[in-house]
Order: sequence, then structure tokens, then C-alpha cells
Amino acid sequence: MAFWIWATIGVLALVRFVQACISKTKNKMLPPGPRGFPIFGSLHLLGKFPTMDLRQLAQKYGDIMYLRLGLQHTVVVSSARAAELFLKTHDLNFASRPPNEGAKHLIFGQKSLSFAEYGSYWTNMRKICMLELLSNQKINSFKSMRREEVALLIKSVQEDANNRRISNLTDKVMSLGIDMTCRMLFGKKYKDEEFGGRGIVSVMKEGLTKKMKAVNNVFDDFYEKIIDEHLQSKDTERTKDFTDAILAYMGSEESDYRIERLNIKAMMSDMLVASADTSSTTVLWALSELMRHPQVMKKVQKEIENVVGLNRMVEESDTEKLEYLDMVVKETMRLHPVDPSAWEDAEKFVPERFEDSNVYVRGHHFQILPFGSGRRRCVGMQLGITVVHFLLAQLVHCFDWELPDNMLPNELDMTEEFGLAVSRAKNLLAIPSYRLQN
Ligand SMILES: *[C@@H]1O[C@H](CO)[C@@H](O)[C@H](O)[C@H]1NC(C)=O
Repeated sequence: MAFWIWATIGVLALVRFVQACISKTKNKMLPPGPRGFPIFGSLHLLGKFPTMDLRQLAQKYGDIMYLRLGLQHTVVVSSARAAELFLKTHDLNFASRPPNEGAKHLIFGQKSLSFAEYGSYWTNMRKICMLELLSNQKINSFKSMRREEVALLIKSVQEDANNRRISNLTDKVMSLGIDMTCRMLFGKKYKDEEFGGRGIVSVMKEGLTKKMKAVNNVFDDFYEKIIDEHLQSKDTERTKDFTDAILAYMGSEESDYRIERLNIKAMMSDMLVASADTSSTTVLWALSELMRHPQVMKKVQKEIENVVGLNRMVEESDTEKLEYLDMVVKETMRLHPVDPSAWEDAEKFVPERFEDSNVYVRGHHFQILPFGSGRRRCVGMQLGITVVHFLLAQLVHCFDWELPDNMLPNELDMTEEFGLAVSRAKNLLAIPSYRLQN
């Protein structure tokens, strides 16, 4: 999930450091790594499954290795021990983000939280996002919205169950993530038609690859329209969303910058990119693992049954009491993607490994860093954890799941797709049957 945003950007951060080393010492201080070709560097070593390729390279060259990807100097950090060096011991040295060719083409480039230099601008933007969207109080204020949206999803899965139809979980869970994000950020849901019928996330993903400029224009228009609508709205009754809140900062000035429309759009874009598909991706991995491990699925269902019973749905407040569910989420985050050096039986899905363990996912234990760590760690951690627990609990409590075409649990395809969030390459399809007694 946010891991890849963090990892990718973390790697970009090292570029300047490496460049400095190169110019000062003529390569002497670089970590070991494959030599690579002129111009392309080591790009040819990364195939269809880059996480696996990088893992294999790390076994050969070490947990801090140097790769040249095209013209980009890159340092890849692949173990808990090395991550701690970069994100804790020397965090301040790596907290900034150098000017970067890629970021320039990304939406609002270095004005955004992800790519801004470490300094007063970045600190202030981060504080605003925290205060206006990601604080516990704000997260709570959107609780009834989440309840409503998740209930809609449950209802649509229930229809599939009634008709013994296959449920397209990828489609439903991804759409839910986008709907909830849009309601928090912009005050309403946006239909796929706004993006040529293809949906926000698929357009966003295109923007990260080939069609950066065209996609940036689409999103720029989209944010402009939302800002105009908010500025013109006379409806004082409606619940304040994130856009309302940050528009109040427009025109405010600090010594070295002023918050303008561009900065507002950068914040909107940051929050959209960071939350639209991250929690959904985690929930889909967790569901897939549960379908592959029916005993674990039963154990989660049993736990929820004990706390909630079978006569009502799960509420967000129930999830605090669901310890095994929490272990399942941790285990999912640990495994996708995995650091094999830090764990015993690293490739196996065993939530029980977190029983009586004091390893948490919040960034102090470097063998599991779904939200990164240090100054640049994910600001949306609490929101992400809340959404993942609630949605997963609901889907598991309301339904039993069966794979289509008599597929056996261990036949479910778990191939990863490389991107900002490491997501499932194949859509998750399953047949639900409703199990509550109401
Ligand atoms: C499931 O949903 C995804 C995402 O919307 C879509 O690309 C895919 O075609 C759907 N698959 C089926 C079998 O309906």
C-alpha cells in the first residue's frame, strides 16, 4: 500500500545523496550493485515482477545496493536493519526530496507533500492535512459516511448472494475506496463518466506511466472545477469536507511562500493519490489470503461472532475488540510485499505469529513498514487502519465466500502487480452467501 509510495520516493531521495558521493569521490563510496549498461543501466534486470527481482539482486549485492535505472542513480534498501539506518538513525539526512525529473511531470510536482523538500513549506502542508483530514477528530467526523458507504457495498454483495452470482470484489472494493475518499475530500461521489468512463484510479495509474501530461490536464480541470464549486456554494448547511477546510488557508502567507490555488490543488491531489486505492488494496489482499486459508477465515468469523453475534452487522467501535482480525491485517501487510530476511517462514501466511508479539505496524518496527517510518512516514495511517479493519470485518462477518469454478483455495492466483501500491494482478472474484440472521 502506501509502502510503495514511501519506498519509491524514499529511493528518489537518495538520488541527490548518491550524486554528491559520485562527484566527490568518483564512485568510491557507492554501495555494491550490478554494473549495468551505458544509458540503460540495470533496467534490463527488472522484469515483470520487480519486487522479486529486487529481492534476488539484494541477495547477491546486499541489503543496501546501488542500481542505475536509466539515467537515475538509485539506492535500494531491502532489509529491516538497513531501513532503520535510513529512516531512523539518519532520517534527517534523507527526509528531503531532491528536484527530480519524474516529479516535475507529476501533478503539481514539488508543491505536493510527497515531493516537497524537507523544510517549512512541507512541514506546514503536512500539518494542515493532518489537522483538516487525518486527525482522530476528523476521522471520527466521517464515521457515519463510512458506515453508509460500506452498507451500500454489503447490500450489493447481498444481491449477488441472493442470485448465487459471482461478486467482483476488486470492482466493488476499489469503487468503495474511491467513493469514500471523494466524499471526504470533495463532499460528494464522482461518477466514472467524469473520467471518460474509466474511473479515477485507472486514469491516475496511466498518469504514472506514459501519458503524464494529458492525465495531469484532466486532473487539473477536475480540481479547478471542484474548487469553483466550493467557492460558489451558498449551502451553509452541508458538512464541511477537506476542500472547504483547506480553501480557508488560501492567501495565507509565510515568510517564504504563500498558499495559492496551486498549493490547494497539490494538497487535494496528494490526499486523493494516497488514499484512493491503498486501503482497498490491503483489504483485497487480506480477503484473498483468507480465501486461501479457510481455517483462518473461520477463526476470524468465530471471533467476530463472539463479539458481535449473528444478529447485527459490525460497527467501527467493535473492531477494537477484534484482536485476531488485527493479526490478520498485520500479517497481510507483512506479506505484501515481504522482507524474507526478517521473518521465519517469511512466505507463509500465519497471523498467529503476531500473538503476544509487540511488533506493530506503526513505523517503530523496521521489519514491517506499511506506512514507512521517520519524518516522511504516511500521514494517513490512522485513517487507513480504521477503514481496513472495518471493511474487512464487515465482508467476513456478513458472508461466507467460495471461489468460482470449483477452484481450490490454493489455486487462487496471488500474482502481484508492480505500482505505487503493490496490488493484485488478477481481479478477485468469489461467490458470497449471506450468513447473518436478519
Ligand atoms: C472486475 O472488475 C474489474 C475492475 O472494475 C474489471 O476490470 C474486470 O473486468 C471485472 N471482471 C469481471 C469478470 O467482471
